[in-house]
Amino acid sequence: MRISSLILLAAAIACTPKLGKSPVEKVVANMTSEEKVRTVVGTFNDVATPPPVAPGVNNRADYPGSGENTARTYNQVPGAAGDGYPVERLGIPAIVYADGPAGLRIDPRREGDEKTYFCTAFPSATLLSSTWDPALVEKVGAAIGDEVLRYGVDVLLAPGMNLQRNPLTGRNFEYYSEDPLLSGLTSAAYVAGVQSQGVGTSVKHFAANNQELYRNGINEIISERALRELYLRGFEIVVKKAQPWTVMSSYNKINGTYASENKWLLTDVLRDEWGYEGFVMTDWFGADDPVLQMEAGNDLLMPGTPNQIDELNEALASGRLSEEVLDRNVANILRVMEKTPRVKGYAYKNDPDLAAHAVVSREAAREGMVLLHNNGALPLASSGKVALFGNYSYDTQPGGSGSGYVNRAYKVTLDMGLEAAGYTLDASLAEAYRSHIAAEKAKMPEEYFWVVPTASEYKVSASEIAASAGADLAIVTLGRMSGEGGDRTAEEGDYLLSAQEKQLVKRVSEAFHRQGKPVVVVLNIGAPVSLDQLDRWADAVLLAWLPGQEAGHAITDILSGVVSPSGKLPVTLASRYEDVPSARNFGVSEGEINTVRYAEDLMVGYRYFTSAGVKPKYPFGFGLSYTSFAYDDFRIEGGELVLTVTNTGSVAGREAVQFYVEKPALSEGRPVRELCAYTKTDVLAPGASQQVRVALKNVVNPLEQWADGAWILARGTYRFWAAASSEDLRLSAQINVE
Ligand code: BGC
Repeated sequence: MRISSLILLAAAIACTPKLGKSPVEKVVANMTSEEKVRTVVGTFNDVATPPPVAPGVNNRADYPGSGENTARTYNQVPGAAGDGYPVERLGIPAIVYADGPAGLRIDPRREGDEKTYFCTAFPSATLLSSTWDPALVEKVGAAIGDEVLRYGVDVLLAPGMNLQRNPLTGRNFEYYSEDPLLSGLTSAAYVAGVQSQGVGTSVKHFAANNQELYRNGINEIISERALRELYLRGFEIVVKKAQPWTVMSSYNKINGTYASENKWLLTDVLRDEWGYEGFVMTDWFGADDPVLQMEAGNDLLMPGTPNQIDELNEALASGRLSEEVLDRNVANILRVMEKTPRVKGYAYKNDPDLAAHAVVSREAAREGMVLLHNNGALPLASSGKVALFGNYSYDTQPGGSGSGYVNRAYKVTLDMGLEAAGYTLDASLAEAYRSHIAAEKAKMPEEYFWVVPTASEYKVSASEIAASAGADLAIVTLGRMSGEGGDRTAEEGDYLLSAQEKQLVKRVSEAFHRQGKPVVVVLNIGAPVSLDQLDRWADAVLLAWLPGQEAGHAITDILSGVVSPSGKLPVTLASRYEDVPSARNFGVSEGEINTVRYAEDLMVGYRYFTSAGVKPKYPFGFGLSYTSFAYDDFRIEGGELVLTVTNTGSVAGREAVQFYVEKPALSEGRPVRELCAYTKTDVLAPGASQQVRVALKNVVNPLEQWADGAWILARGTYRFWAAASSEDLRLSAQINVE
């Protein structure tokens, strides 16, 4: 080559824009059409065609390689859920995307590598929202974000924030609450925490992915009012407050249109109304028309298939897809990519401080456990002999299965936690349970992604119970596992306690009560179960949720009174499943095929129970403490709700304070009151007071209601309640809107 040509070539290379160094528009202008198409499709391209998805079949499970490592092409971080397409000449690397809500999900071991790549299993989302403490959630987010960064991932596929419309949804543990304000603010704190580490999040699944049954094709019929006030509201809050780098569209259809093909949802509402600046990706293999997805504003198709690439290339050639739409989507993706550690050249060393994160996990876990019932049995004496019953006492579950699963280095079960705190266990009982569980597990597959084998409940005999009644107290742990790919059932052994579980608690209760000794029930569950008569048989019931890898330590911290419980319910616990307002319209509506009608409209969770006067077993917002709190001097001052909270009991504790509003209704069928703000006090010593002040407007105005196609602030009187739960209204104040 002549010198002059060499100079020209060097000049051309020097002039080629590079992502991160040149404006995104210039980078896009230098891309070929093929490169643009590759940029909007992920790189799962070793499988030709995704299998057809029959209604009721969740395609993810059928997919080759699912659950192990779905990102085959670049495999930079084994076990990550997907990656993007690199265009090296333009400085575009292959961005890595990995799950999930309770901690980073990557493979813990790599072939030919001695090192391990464990991640911290944090408490599940529902426990995090039970803390009512955004600052703590942000701290958890920051710890997760640190692992994302140090393990070489760019975008975390979390948080999940679909509304818990029904207690049977299999992924409820990955979601926050039945209330959009609590979901939105918890989610915003989580996103702020993760993104503070210089990595991205993907809030999912946008929108109304409220069940797993038929999730790939279910058509959800939802009024615009319920969409706006409930199913979109949490997303609106997180977008406006925390600008998540990415949003993941959901699999389902809303009013006839797939979420990922819905321009109204992804462009008109998300971008134009809410001011969203990031990009939208599909859920894995979501929907089926890539051109409609591109046009709707679904920028990236994940994890990407060769078919999608072909279809987009053909559509470009035929004019069905305009270059303008493609350019817009590519630019949306590149603008986010510019911020990623990969583009910034961050040299990751796979060195997160797992010990420090375990401390955060334990702290968060104990702040979100909810004490449902206590007749004085808790806190326990500081030492003593415990008769420990129930498989879940010895095989305590930190989290759920599916993409919310975390490959942690260990888990602390309740027996371990109690022993570490100095309690003695009834040895023969412990031995019987441990060997039963070990024998059962030896016959089962190893734990991973889809499968978290749980042993059948050990059948403890009457004589074993009688023999153990010499202990100072009994603890019985009952548990449930669930996860992506299926919903739970309203049957015994699932939503309902099984006959065996009831009998176990009842028999233990009879034996111990005969000797004047207390019985404590611990619930290690991801979503509500029917509590039946647990509170009659047991002296205390602690809802520990799925508390992460430090489970046993955190539960023991609460049982022993190291900290006073301060978690409160982010969902209503109904007395009977039939009382749940969506019970008649969950899964598929009667007489329909693949359609579910949200006939309860706004009456979800406590909005229904409080309006209809139906008594739940435990109301939304409820949770006991080892101390008590008085509420005084409630007033509304300069757009703030002001209240003084005093610890009137004898131990230190925190109180999650809720504010509800009763609005002048602009339409029929509105709930009597709705959560409009909340806060949590600091740790208050006995006798100490704290004045809390909460802004009434936090990104959105909770006084507005959706009527006639718009948010409207109705004229009239607004009555506010300072409350300890949705049913425990303490003080009121009102304002007039002219
Ligand atoms: C789930 C998403 C997850 C994705 C990647 C999908 O099956 O619905 O929540 O992020 O897989 O693992």
